[in-house]
Amino acid sequence: MDLAIRGGHVGTAEGLTRADLGIANGTIVQIGEVGAAAREIDARGLLVLPGGVDTHCHLAQVEPGMGCGPDDFYTGGRSALLGGTTTAISFISQFKGETLDSVVRESFRRGERAVIDYSFHQIITDPSEAVLAEIPGLVERGVRSLKVFLTYDAARLDDGQFLKVLAAARRSGAFVTVHCENYDAIGWLTERLLAAGLRAPKYHAWSRPKVVEREATYRAIALAELVDQPLQIFHVSCAEVAEEIGRAQRRGLKVWAETCPQYLTLTAADMDRPGFEGAKYMCSPSPRDEADHAGMWEMIRQGVIGIVSSDHSAFNITGSADAKDRHGRDAPFRDIPNGVPGVGSRLPVLFSEGVSAGRLDLETFVAITATNPAKLFGLFPKKGTIAVGSDADLSLWDPKKRVTITNALLQHNVDHTPWEGREVIGWPVMTLLRGEVAARDGAMLLQEGAGRYLPRAPYGLIQPRGVLANGFDAARIA
Ligand code: URP
Ligand code: ZN
Ligand code: ZN
Repeated sequence: MDLAIRGGHVGTAEGLTRADLGIANGTIVQIGEVGAAAREIDARGLLVLPGGVDTHCHLAQVEPGMGCGPDDFYTGGRSALLGGTTTAISFISQFKGETLDSVVRESFRRGERAVIDYSFHQIITDPSEAVLAEIPGLVERGVRSLKVFLTYDAARLDDGQFLKVLAAARRSGAFVTVHCENYDAIGWLTERLLAAGLRAPKYHAWSRPKVVEREATYRAIALAELVDQPLQIFHVSCAEVAEEIGRAQRRGLKVWAETCPQYLTLTAADMDRPGFEGAKYMCSPSPRDEADHAGMWEMIRQGVIGIVSSDHSAFNITGSADAKDRHGRDAPFRDIPNGVPGVGSRLPVLFSEGVSAGRLDLETFVAITATNPAKLFGLFPKKGTIAVGSDADLSLWDPKKRVTITNALLQHNVDHTPWEGREVIGWPVMTLLRGEVAARDGAMLLQEGAGRYLPRAPYGLIQPRGVLANGFDAARIA
């Protein structure tokens, strides 16, 4: 045995038990009574949880129409490890006119600096016949999930294009994830807000109210049902949107929902802070109101929302070409890039506001941050749980430790965090990646390149249901 972790309380999505762990060759080989080992970690007083799996991170990625934030797989990975996360899925962007083959080759190289294990979703912005024909090859390289946008000028697909992607995904055994907001409604509102002189960051929320997200969510689900293609809705912001998803789930559709800490802890009022400060809180969909948070926690407890990712989409506020102030501090909200950093703060904020505050039990915390994302994206049981045969990706938590979040503490490469100054209760004091101590007491200990690419093989959860709207299987015809 290479390593024994002794005396901790081991938490999984199934429950909490007192157990020691034995690790050999980066894999968990014993749980319970563990024999002699070359190295020992004393975990008394600590929770031993699976390393977090963050299935929505923008690392080393140029976002269509927004640019590239400063975090890559090294700096973002460092922050992830310090915050208890060991696996992340980032994005490969296809820009209009590009082939998938060229973007995949380029994007895979960006993972070479990784200190976490990683995989990719492919963003499709231009689903030409030639590009759709490339999807099987992409899937063979282990990129088994696609992301499409129903909004953003540079990225949005219309319904016809979305249907083509859904059908191509079904033919190739790929999963589809979607950003749901109504493009035309946002454009219409934005024009009128700007014409009325309403330009400040807070009007970002006014330009994309809940109904805009709810309509697109319902539409995305309906089109996926038509094609019989499983679907995940990214970054659900409010209970009204989750209700649409819950209704579909109760009808037996394969539709899953993700949210992020920003929709549980930040509000539209944060964008009304003085000066340019509000830009730090701008993301899409928009954070809603304080009163919406309770409904979101309830949707998590009910299991309608099964995943909480970070949507780490981190642009500096200032000082770089892609910073949020790139068009000046009085730029209209429309011209400020969207997104908040969160890969390092995701788990501490969620543990504190969820488990420590009594809103979630520990099992649900593990399920939504590690087990469910690993299952939904084909990484389970190697990732996302503590079991014999799983990778020894672990986070050791002091559940009573009080920490005040600061940007410096998070060690990402971005110049701010929207959770600056927030005190959290519960902190990951040590993180292991495949049995190696990857972070301890605020220091990341791995060498650049220690992370591994995770190709994703076929798995049952994302198989279509085999239920067609009217018996004609249109998706089979390319
Ligand atoms: O505001 C956000 N969410 N920015 C990141 C891009 C996306 O939509 O995921
Ligand atoms: Zn999105
Ligand atoms: Zn995102």
